[in-house]
Amino acid sequence: MEYSSSVSPKITASAPGKLMLFGEHAVVYGRPCLVTAVDLRVSVTVELNTTGLLQISTPLLREQGEVRTVAFDALGSPYPPETAFVEAAIARVVRACGMPGGLSITTDGPRLSYGLGSSSAVTVATVAAFVAVLGVELGKRAMFELAYAAVLDAQGKGSGFDVASAVYGGTLYYVGGGTTIIPLEIEPPPLLIGYSGAKVSTRRFVDGVAQLHAQHTALIERIFDSMGAIADEARGLLGQGAWERLGELMDINQGLLDALGVNTPSLARLIYAAREAGALGAKLSGAGGGDCMYALAPEPARAAVEGAIREAGERVSFALGAEGVRIE
Ligand code: MEV
Repeated sequence: MEYSSSVSPKITASAPGKLMLFGEHAVVYGRPCLVTAVDLRVSVTVELNTTGLLQISTPLLREQGEVRTVAFDALGSPYPPETAFVEAAIARVVRACGMPGGLSITTDGPRLSYGLGSSSAVTVATVAAFVAVLGVELGKRAMFELAYAAVLDAQGKGSGFDVASAVYGGTLYYVGGGTTIIPLEIEPPPLLIGYSGAKVSTRRFVDGVAQLHAQHTALIERIFDSMGAIADEARGLLGQGAWERLGELMDINQGLLDALGVNTPSLARLIYAAREAGALGAKLSGAGGGDCMYALAPEPARAAVEGAIREAGERVSFALGAEGVRIE
Protein backbone atom coordinates (compact mmCIF):
# COMPACT_ATOMS: atom_id res chain seq x y z
CA MET A 1 0.00 0.00 0.00
CA GLU A 2 1.42 3.40 -0.96
CA TYR A 3 0.33 6.76 0.40
CA SER A 4 0.48 9.86 -1.77
CA SER A 5 0.14 13.30 -0.18
CA SER A 6 -2.99 14.15 -2.13
CA VAL A 7 -6.33 13.72 -0.39
CA SER A 8 -9.17 14.35 -2.89
CA PRO A 9 -12.52 15.70 -1.72
CA LYS A 10 -14.69 13.62 -4.08
CA ILE A 11 -14.06 10.59 -6.30
CA THR A 12 -16.27 8.24 -8.32
CA ALA A 13 -15.24 4.69 -9.16
CA SER A 14 -17.12 2.10 -11.20
CA ALA A 15 -16.84 -1.69 -11.37
CA PRO A 16 -18.33 -4.27 -13.78
CA GLY A 17 -20.73 -7.15 -13.23
CA LYS A 18 -19.77 -10.72 -14.07
CA LEU A 19 -20.83 -13.80 -16.01
CA MET A 20 -19.62 -17.09 -14.56
CA LEU A 21 -18.55 -19.27 -17.50
CA PHE A 22 -17.48 -22.52 -15.80
CA GLY A 23 -16.93 -23.80 -12.28
CA GLU A 24 -19.78 -22.29 -10.24
CA HIS A 25 -20.33 -24.04 -6.90
CA ALA A 26 -17.15 -26.13 -7.30
CA VAL A 27 -15.15 -22.90 -6.84
CA VAL A 28 -16.63 -22.54 -3.33
CA TYR A 29 -14.83 -25.84 -2.59
CA GLY A 30 -11.43 -24.74 -3.87
CA ARG A 31 -11.75 -25.74 -7.54
CA PRO A 32 -10.97 -23.41 -10.46
CA CYS A 33 -13.54 -21.39 -12.39
CA LEU A 34 -13.64 -19.12 -15.43
CA VAL A 35 -15.42 -15.78 -15.21
CA THR A 36 -15.79 -12.86 -17.60
CA ALA A 37 -16.63 -9.29 -16.60
CA VAL A 38 -19.78 -7.78 -18.14
CA ASP A 39 -20.33 -4.18 -18.99
CA LEU A 40 -23.06 -3.69 -16.42
CA ARG A 41 -21.34 -1.19 -14.17
CA VAL A 42 -22.17 0.13 -10.74
CA SER A 43 -20.68 3.40 -9.63
CA VAL A 44 -19.85 4.68 -6.18
CA THR A 45 -19.04 8.30 -5.35
CA VAL A 46 -17.19 8.95 -2.10
CA GLU A 47 -17.04 12.52 -0.84
CA LEU A 48 -15.33 13.88 2.26
CA ASN A 49 -17.46 15.92 4.66
CA THR A 50 -17.09 17.33 8.14
CA THR A 51 -19.97 15.57 9.91
CA GLY A 52 -17.76 12.86 11.42
CA LEU A 53 -20.42 10.40 10.18
CA LEU A 54 -20.92 7.99 7.31
CA GLN A 55 -23.89 8.92 5.11
CA ILE A 56 -24.99 6.46 2.43
CA SER A 57 -27.42 7.04 -0.40
CA THR A 58 -28.43 4.09 -2.63
CA PRO A 59 -31.02 4.07 -5.46
CA LEU A 60 -33.55 2.31 -3.19
CA LEU A 61 -32.98 4.67 -0.24
CA ARG A 62 -33.33 7.67 -2.59
CA GLU A 63 -36.68 6.32 -3.78
CA GLN A 64 -37.80 6.20 -0.14
CA GLY A 65 -36.42 9.71 0.50
CA GLU A 66 -33.93 8.33 3.05
CA VAL A 67 -30.20 8.51 3.74
CA ARG A 68 -28.51 5.92 5.95
CA THR A 69 -26.40 7.68 8.59
CA VAL A 70 -24.10 5.74 10.88
CA ALA A 71 -21.16 6.53 13.18
CA PHE A 72 -17.86 4.96 12.12
CA ASP A 73 -17.42 3.25 15.48
CA ALA A 74 -20.90 1.70 15.14
CA LEU A 75 -19.97 -0.04 11.86
CA GLY A 76 -20.05 -3.81 12.18
CA SER A 77 -21.83 -7.05 11.53
CA PRO A 78 -24.76 -7.64 11.21
CA TYR A 79 -25.00 -4.93 8.55
CA PRO A 80 -28.38 -3.70 7.27
CA PRO A 81 -29.08 -5.54 3.98
CA GLU A 82 -29.50 -2.42 1.80
CA THR A 83 -26.07 -0.97 2.65
CA ALA A 84 -24.18 -4.05 3.93
CA PHE A 85 -21.50 -4.18 1.24
CA VAL A 86 -20.78 -0.45 1.30
CA GLU A 87 -20.53 -0.42 5.09
CA ALA A 88 -18.34 -3.51 5.20
CA ALA A 89 -16.05 -1.99 2.56
CA ILE A 90 -15.78 1.30 4.46
CA ALA A 91 -15.08 -0.52 7.74
CA ARG A 92 -12.26 -2.54 6.12
CA VAL A 93 -10.64 0.55 4.55
CA VAL A 94 -10.91 2.52 7.81
CA ARG A 95 -9.20 -0.35 9.61
CA ALA A 96 -6.40 -0.50 7.00
CA CYS A 97 -5.91 3.19 6.18
CA GLY A 98 -7.48 5.35 8.91
CA MET A 99 -10.30 7.85 8.71
CA PRO A 100 -9.94 11.53 7.89
CA GLY A 101 -13.47 12.78 8.88
CA GLY A 102 -17.02 12.28 7.64
CA LEU A 103 -17.99 10.68 4.32
CA SER A 104 -20.98 10.82 1.98
CA ILE A 105 -21.37 7.87 -0.33
CA THR A 106 -23.69 7.66 -3.31
CA THR A 107 -24.15 4.40 -5.19
CA ASP A 108 -25.74 4.06 -8.60
CA GLY A 109 -26.38 1.22 -11.00
CA PRO A 110 -28.87 -0.52 -13.24
CA ARG A 111 -32.32 -1.16 -11.80
CA LEU A 112 -32.33 -4.79 -12.87
CA SER A 113 -29.01 -6.59 -12.96
CA TYR A 114 -30.23 -10.08 -14.01
CA GLY A 115 -28.02 -11.71 -11.37
CA LEU A 116 -25.01 -10.48 -13.38
CA GLY A 117 -24.44 -7.36 -11.40
CA SER A 118 -22.94 -8.10 -8.08
CA SER A 119 -22.67 -6.91 -4.55
CA SER A 120 -18.98 -7.46 -5.09
CA ALA A 121 -18.92 -4.75 -7.76
CA VAL A 122 -20.38 -2.25 -5.26
CA THR A 123 -17.83 -3.37 -2.67
CA VAL A 124 -14.90 -3.02 -5.07
CA ALA A 125 -16.06 0.38 -6.36
CA THR A 126 -16.48 1.59 -2.76
CA VAL A 127 -12.98 0.46 -1.79
CA ALA A 128 -11.47 1.99 -4.96
CA ALA A 129 -13.20 5.37 -4.54
CA PHE A 130 -12.51 5.58 -0.81
CA VAL A 131 -8.80 4.74 -1.02
CA ALA A 132 -8.47 7.20 -3.91
CA VAL A 133 -10.06 9.92 -1.74
CA LEU A 134 -7.52 9.10 0.96
CA GLY A 135 -4.67 9.29 -1.56
CA VAL A 136 -3.76 5.63 -1.01
CA GLU A 137 -2.64 3.61 -4.03
CA LEU A 138 -3.57 -0.05 -3.93
CA GLY A 139 -2.39 -2.66 -6.41
CA LYS A 140 -4.99 -5.05 -7.84
CA ARG A 141 -4.06 -7.87 -5.48
CA ALA A 142 -4.31 -5.64 -2.38
CA MET A 143 -7.62 -4.24 -3.60
CA PHE A 144 -8.94 -7.78 -4.17
CA GLU A 145 -7.92 -8.83 -0.65
CA LEU A 146 -9.48 -5.81 1.04
CA ALA A 147 -12.72 -6.09 -0.95
CA TYR A 148 -12.95 -9.88 -0.54
CA ALA A 149 -12.56 -9.53 3.24
CA ALA A 150 -15.38 -6.95 3.17
CA VAL A 151 -17.63 -9.27 1.11
CA LEU A 152 -17.05 -12.08 3.61
CA ASP A 153 -17.86 -9.66 6.47
CA ALA A 154 -21.12 -8.70 4.75
CA GLN A 155 -22.34 -12.09 3.47
CA GLY A 156 -20.37 -14.69 5.39
CA LYS A 157 -19.59 -16.97 2.42
CA GLY A 158 -18.38 -16.75 -1.15
CA SER A 159 -15.50 -17.90 -3.31
CA GLY A 160 -14.46 -14.32 -4.22
CA PHE A 161 -14.55 -14.93 -8.00
CA ASP A 162 -16.91 -12.00 -8.45
CA VAL A 163 -14.63 -9.72 -6.42
CA ALA A 164 -11.67 -10.69 -8.61
CA SER A 165 -13.76 -10.11 -11.74
CA ALA A 166 -14.81 -6.64 -10.55
CA VAL A 167 -11.18 -5.71 -9.75
CA TYR A 168 -9.35 -7.20 -12.77
CA GLY A 169 -12.08 -7.19 -15.45
CA GLY A 170 -11.52 -9.17 -18.67
CA THR A 171 -11.75 -12.95 -18.39
CA LEU A 172 -10.13 -14.70 -15.43
CA TYR A 173 -9.03 -18.17 -14.44
CA TYR A 174 -9.71 -18.09 -10.71
CA VAL A 175 -9.17 -20.66 -7.98
CA GLY A 176 -11.48 -20.59 -4.94
CA GLY A 177 -10.45 -18.12 -2.24
CA GLY A 178 -8.21 -16.22 -4.68
CA THR A 179 -5.18 -18.50 -4.35
CA THR A 180 -4.74 -18.11 -8.13
CA ILE A 181 -6.00 -15.24 -10.28
CA ILE A 182 -4.86 -15.35 -13.90
CA PRO A 183 -6.12 -12.82 -16.46
CA LEU A 184 -6.58 -14.61 -19.80
CA GLU A 185 -5.50 -12.90 -23.01
CA ILE A 186 -8.50 -13.95 -25.08
CA GLU A 187 -11.21 -12.46 -27.24
CA PRO A 188 -14.68 -12.90 -25.68
CA PRO A 189 -16.34 -16.03 -27.14
CA PRO A 190 -19.55 -15.71 -29.24
CA LEU A 191 -22.04 -16.10 -26.40
CA LEU A 192 -25.69 -15.18 -26.03
CA ILE A 193 -27.19 -14.62 -22.59
CA GLY A 194 -30.75 -15.51 -21.60
CA TYR A 195 -32.54 -14.44 -18.44
CA SER A 196 -34.93 -16.91 -16.80
CA GLY A 197 -36.29 -14.66 -14.04
CA ALA A 198 -35.19 -13.69 -10.56
CA LYS A 199 -34.38 -16.22 -7.87
CA VAL A 200 -34.93 -16.11 -4.12
CA SER A 201 -31.30 -15.85 -3.04
CA THR A 202 -27.86 -17.05 -4.08
CA ARG A 203 -27.21 -17.99 -0.47
CA ARG A 204 -30.11 -20.47 -0.50
CA PHE A 205 -28.58 -22.36 -3.43
CA VAL A 206 -25.06 -22.28 -2.00
CA ASP A 207 -26.51 -23.66 1.27
CA GLY A 208 -28.50 -26.30 -0.65
CA VAL A 209 -25.33 -27.55 -2.33
CA ALA A 210 -23.53 -27.53 1.04
CA GLN A 211 -26.27 -29.74 2.43
CA LEU A 212 -26.00 -32.17 -0.49
CA HIS A 213 -22.21 -32.14 -0.06
CA ALA A 214 -22.60 -32.99 3.63
CA GLN A 215 -24.95 -35.90 2.83
CA HIS A 216 -23.01 -37.34 -0.13
CA THR A 217 -19.52 -36.00 0.37
CA ALA A 218 -17.52 -38.48 -1.72
CA LEU A 219 -19.95 -38.33 -4.66
CA ILE A 220 -20.25 -34.55 -4.70
CA GLU A 221 -16.48 -34.17 -4.38
CA ARG A 222 -16.20 -36.18 -7.61
CA ILE A 223 -18.67 -33.85 -9.28
CA PHE A 224 -16.60 -30.86 -8.12
CA ASP A 225 -13.44 -32.54 -9.44
CA SER A 226 -15.13 -32.98 -12.85
CA MET A 227 -16.24 -29.35 -12.83
CA GLY A 228 -12.68 -28.31 -12.02
CA ALA A 229 -11.33 -30.47 -14.86
CA ILE A 230 -13.87 -28.85 -17.21
CA ALA A 231 -12.74 -25.35 -16.18
CA ASP A 232 -9.09 -26.34 -16.73
CA GLU A 233 -9.77 -27.71 -20.20
CA ALA A 234 -12.11 -24.85 -21.13
CA ARG A 235 -9.38 -22.35 -20.30
CA GLY A 236 -7.26 -23.73 -23.16
CA LEU A 237 -10.20 -24.08 -25.56
CA LEU A 238 -11.23 -20.45 -25.02
CA GLY A 239 -7.77 -19.35 -26.15
CA GLN A 240 -7.88 -21.60 -29.23
CA GLY A 241 -11.42 -20.67 -30.26
CA ALA A 242 -12.23 -24.42 -30.23
CA TRP A 243 -15.97 -23.83 -30.03
CA GLU A 244 -17.32 -27.32 -30.75
CA ARG A 245 -15.44 -28.93 -27.89
CA LEU A 246 -16.12 -25.94 -25.61
CA GLY A 247 -19.85 -26.37 -26.33
CA GLU A 248 -19.62 -30.04 -25.34
CA LEU A 249 -17.98 -29.05 -22.06
CA MET A 250 -20.79 -26.55 -21.42
CA ASP A 251 -23.39 -29.30 -21.84
CA ILE A 252 -21.49 -31.68 -19.57
CA ASN A 253 -21.11 -28.94 -16.95
CA GLN A 254 -24.84 -28.22 -17.17
CA GLY A 255 -25.58 -31.90 -16.48
CA LEU A 256 -23.38 -31.77 -13.38
CA LEU A 257 -25.10 -28.58 -12.17
CA ASP A 258 -28.43 -30.34 -12.62
CA ALA A 259 -27.08 -33.14 -10.42
CA LEU A 260 -26.39 -30.51 -7.72
CA GLY A 261 -30.07 -29.54 -7.82
CA VAL A 262 -29.62 -25.94 -8.97
CA ASN A 263 -31.33 -26.17 -12.38
CA THR A 264 -34.93 -24.98 -12.82
CA PRO A 265 -37.62 -25.59 -15.45
CA SER A 266 -37.27 -22.05 -16.80
CA LEU A 267 -33.47 -22.32 -17.10
CA ALA A 268 -33.88 -25.76 -18.71
CA ARG A 269 -36.40 -24.34 -21.22
CA LEU A 270 -33.92 -21.66 -22.29
CA ILE A 271 -31.05 -24.14 -22.45
CA TYR A 272 -32.93 -26.70 -24.58
CA ALA A 273 -34.38 -23.98 -26.81
CA ALA A 274 -30.88 -22.63 -27.49
CA ARG A 275 -29.45 -26.09 -28.19
CA GLU A 276 -32.35 -27.01 -30.49
CA ALA A 277 -31.83 -23.78 -32.44
CA GLY A 278 -28.23 -24.76 -33.15
CA ALA A 279 -26.16 -23.54 -30.16
CA LEU A 280 -22.98 -25.58 -29.73
CA GLY A 281 -23.61 -25.73 -25.98
CA ALA A 282 -25.71 -24.07 -23.28
CA LYS A 283 -25.56 -23.94 -19.49
CA LEU A 284 -26.76 -21.93 -16.55
CA SER A 285 -24.42 -19.34 -15.09
CA GLY A 286 -23.92 -18.64 -11.40
CA ALA A 287 -25.69 -20.16 -8.42
CA GLY A 288 -28.70 -21.41 -10.44
CA GLY A 289 -32.30 -21.37 -9.27
CA GLY A 290 -33.03 -18.55 -11.75
CA ASP A 291 -31.05 -15.66 -13.23
CA CYS A 292 -29.09 -16.33 -16.41
CA MET A 293 -27.96 -19.04 -18.79
CA TYR A 294 -25.71 -18.60 -21.77
CA ALA A 295 -25.36 -20.33 -25.09
CA LEU A 296 -22.36 -20.66 -27.37
CA ALA A 297 -23.62 -19.52 -30.75
CA PRO A 298 -21.12 -18.63 -33.46
CA GLU A 299 -22.42 -17.94 -36.98
CA PRO A 300 -24.39 -19.22 -38.83
CA ALA A 301 -26.69 -20.23 -35.92
CA ARG A 302 -26.51 -16.97 -34.01
CA ALA A 303 -29.77 -15.36 -35.18
CA ALA A 304 -31.75 -18.58 -34.71
CA VAL A 305 -30.38 -19.08 -31.18
CA GLU A 306 -31.09 -15.46 -30.34
CA GLY A 307 -34.71 -15.89 -31.49
CA ALA A 308 -35.09 -19.12 -29.50
CA ILE A 309 -33.80 -17.45 -26.32
CA ARG A 310 -36.23 -14.54 -26.83
CA GLU A 311 -39.13 -16.96 -27.17
CA ALA A 312 -38.19 -19.09 -24.16
CA GLY A 313 -37.28 -16.23 -21.81
CA GLU A 314 -35.55 -12.88 -22.11
CA ARG A 315 -32.43 -12.13 -24.11
CA VAL A 316 -30.01 -9.76 -22.38
CA SER A 317 -27.02 -8.25 -24.06
CA PHE A 318 -23.89 -6.84 -22.44
CA ALA A 319 -20.34 -6.58 -23.73
CA LEU A 320 -18.13 -9.33 -22.27
CA GLY A 321 -14.55 -9.03 -21.05
CA ALA A 322 -15.37 -5.56 -19.68
CA GLU A 323 -12.79 -3.35 -18.01
CA GLY A 324 -12.24 -3.88 -14.27
CA VAL A 325 -12.66 -1.23 -11.60
CA ARG A 326 -11.73 2.28 -12.69
CA ILE A 327 -11.79 5.81 -11.38
CA GLU A 328 -14.27 7.82 -13.44
C1 MEV B 1 -22.58 -17.65 -7.59
O1 MEV B 1 -22.63 -16.66 -8.60
C2 MEV B 1 -21.42 -18.57 -7.81
C3 MEV B 1 -21.19 -19.58 -6.70
O2 MEV B 1 -20.10 -20.41 -7.10
C4 MEV B 1 -20.93 -18.94 -5.36
C5 MEV B 1 -19.51 -18.37 -5.23
O3 MEV B 1 -18.62 -18.69 -6.00
O4 MEV B 1 -19.30 -17.59 -4.26
C6 MEV B 1 -22.41 -20.49 -6.57
